[in-house]
Amino acid sequence: MSNESVPASGASAGVAASEKPLSDGTASDDDVLLRVENLVKHFPVRSSNLKLGGSRDVVHAVDGVSLELRRGETLGLVGETGCGKSTLARCVARLYDITAGRIIFDGRDISRLSARRMRPLRKDIQIIFQDPYGSLNPRRRVGSIIGDPFAIHHIARGAERKQRVQHLMELVGLNPEHYNRFPAEFSGGQRQRIGVARALAFTPKLIICDEPVSALDVSIQAQIINLLSDLQGELGLTYIFIAHDLSVVRHVSNSVAVMYLGKVTEQAPVEAMWAHPRHPYTDALLSAVPIPDPQSADKRERIILAGDVPSPINPPSGCRFHPRCPKAADRCIAEVPELEPKLGDEPTHLAACHFPVEDGEDISKSQPSISANQRVIETGLVAGS
Ligand SMILES: Nc1ncnc2c1ncn2[C@@H]1O[C@H](COP(=O)(O)OP(=O)(O)OP(=O)(O)O)[C@@H](O)[C@H]1O
Ligand code: SF4
Ligand SMILES: [Mg+2]
Repeated sequence: MSNESVPASGASAGVAASEKPLSDGTASDDDVLLRVENLVKHFPVRSSNLKLGGSRDVVHAVDGVSLELRRGETLGLVGETGCGKSTLARCVARLYDITAGRIIFDGRDISRLSARRMRPLRKDIQIIFQDPYGSLNPRRRVGSIIGDPFAIHHIARGAERKQRVQHLMELVGLNPEHYNRFPAEFSGGQRQRIGVARALAFTPKLIICDEPVSALDVSIQAQIINLLSDLQGELGLTYIFIAHDLSVVRHVSNSVAVMYLGKVTEQAPVEAMWAHPRHPYTDALLSAVPIPDPQSADKRERIILAGDVPSPINPPSGCRFHPRCPKAADRCIAEVPELEPKLGDEPTHLAACHFPVEDGEDISKSQPSISANQRVIETGLVAGS
């Protein structure tokens, strides 16, 4: 994360992911904490046609994602709802079994470790969830909630556990004297601090923050972002940071991966992504971010995408973004674009697009060269012309 504090307005953050690793080739194996290779996670679901003899459907939640994350860095993960961010995060934490691919964590292949063999590693990979209300049991005292990891791993009891819990409370800015209070006695921001304290119990090597501030007021968001940033500096933490707010992602991330329908469409160091978005989807996402300077805002055209995200049960052929892309052409329907550097970009800046956005190009007025009925989203449905 950046060391700068987030302005109270809730401004900017960072992270990385997809079919090729983000590394610029100079990262040694020791530098790399997490390497994900062609990760696939499919969910079998009951087909609506089952009674008619149809087979089960499959949700293609994550479909061939690779990423590399260095120690002490933050990878921002963005994309519209349902694109697979949380599923990817849960696979990395091995809360889900994976369908295919590999997860190398701290030099060890954890892709298919049994629950028993994963247990000691759970101390090293923690998730902070979006909902500080739902993720805390209202009937338990905060000291006992934060002390859960010690209880689960049979570490520290009685007075020693209390001392460790109170130390964690102090670390995240909670009053240790509130050890015996219930979650309802804390504000939303304080409750998220409780979630952070619980995640920090064993100073994990990787913390996955899955929309940790989305449920909070804007002014409180900045406090939690700054807390995570300070803890990263103090404890050398490595984060995957999932968020919808691109300003927050820009502020906290070293690099960013943009996901669409289970795939990474672009990944890059954060400043390169903002300065030269190559994928039309990234360009559209960034065009929707409010710019504080009204003069620059005037120059930036909002890119309106056609239709909604298609179903991950039956993703579009070729480039999955083609039914909504203002630049779509015949090739986009037929050929899956490789995630690779475009237009002379650095090896760390990758985009999966046959017709990447040039510097200075305005795609807000672009029209696809394929017709509406070619832009099939799902059987029977086409994007608006
Ligand atoms: N247990 C499950 N069974 C079936 N489908 C699932 C399951 N979990 C997630 N999905 C589907 O997988 C896709 C990816 O979901 P996921 O929750 O990872 O998206 P997301 O990017 O985190 O979305 P959001 O921004 O809303 O949190 C969605 O289509 C979702 O409906
Ligand atoms: S490959 Fe084609 S459809 Fe996909 S993003 Fe690029 S131009 Fe758009
Ligand atoms: Mg999610």
